[in-house]
Amino acid sequence: MNNTHEYLLIMQGSNYEFFYQEFKNLFEIYFQSETFTLKQIQNTLYSLQTSFKLPNKSHEFFTRITLTKGIYELLFQAKDFDSILEELHLRPHLYSQTFAVSQINIKTKANIENSTLAYPIGKQLHHLKANLKEPNHLFQYIFIPNKVYFTHTIFENQKTYLKRMPVKRAINKPYTLKADMGRTCINLLDVKSGDIVLDPFCGIGGILLEGIDMNLEMIGNDINKSDLEHTKTNCTHFNLKEPTLYNADSKTQFLEENSVDGIVSDIPYGKSSRKLGVELYEGFLQSAQKMLKPNKKMVIIYGCFTNFKPLALKYFEEITEIEQYMNSSLTRYILVLKNTKKK
Ligand SMILES: C[S@@+](CC[C@H](N)C(=O)[O-])C[C@H]1O[C@@H](n2cnc3c(N)ncnc32)[C@H](O)[C@@H]1O
Repeated sequence: MNNTHEYLLIMQGSNYEFFYQEFKNLFEIYFQSETFTLKQIQNTLYSLQTSFKLPNKSHEFFTRITLTKGIYELLFQAKDFDSILEELHLRPHLYSQTFAVSQINIKTKANIENSTLAYPIGKQLHHLKANLKEPNHLFQYIFIPNKVYFTHTIFENQKTYLKRMPVKRAINKPYTLKADMGRTCINLLDVKSGDIVLDPFCGIGGILLEGIDMNLEMIGNDINKSDLEHTKTNCTHFNLKEPTLYNADSKTQFLEENSVDGIVSDIPYGKSSRKLGVELYEGFLQSAQKMLKPNKKMVIIYGCFTNFKPLALKYFEEITEIEQYMNSSLTRYILVLKNTKKK
């Protein structure tokens, strides 16, 4: 890679495949012609190399990404704390206004005070003032055995979706999806703000709420009218614009042909309804294939005991599948499909 830019990245959660697919997909959506490589350093800490300088944290890429905890520009690495002080040569013209310094703990915590570093940094950047609460530049150091990384923070996930978790909603139901799950599944689609996204089995809006927060034009559908009312109540509760809602059976085509840019859903499944499943899934897949624009993506969450996947592959092409272990009797899959108008 010519002109490589080096960052450290911390993964959120423990499902590497889910985290990687989300990062890769959003990177491809927003930075098409650019490339990246990601290598694990230890635990949730990764080294990220990109072919270009990452944009400012206000970029849509950062407002959407969910399973990345933080991204830090690597300024230099040293073998121990004393060596940081020797290697510290900050370029004053790159920084303005205020700064702070802190440590990121990845298992190894060094027993030093942030203020020990604040003084030499302040000396080199004497045109900056210290501001611990809202600094313009947050320098952070990370210790791993025999090494310390000195970084400039690019992005830290504020996890604002946590306020829309099921227990925080006006209406909660046991079958609803968690906010981070809904958000990450949307991030596997090929959509940008303003695009139209459909959840054909929307329930009380677990996915819709996240899509609206990401400035997507969300359409929800559910066969159960009271679920649609609950969705509206939940949107009002969070001060979010109401999605367009339909009360149709998802076996039918209720939108025009080629009218949506993405479909994402947590489909119904019950261990006792295998036969019902085949009929429902076939009808849904046929109508979804029509309503979704050509070559656009559909992301479906399904349970391990359903026969959804072989049916889906009759109509769509598989891009990837992510496994998510829930408990000893339930594994969920997140299937990413492409509408090549196969059949
Ligand atoms: C697993 S739940 C979806 C939960 C949703 N993601 C949420 O966060 O609340 C499945 C939903 O599919 C709906 N449903 C079941 N059969 C349907 C059908 N044939 N057409 C449309 N919706 C259906 C159910 O009413 C239920 O709300």
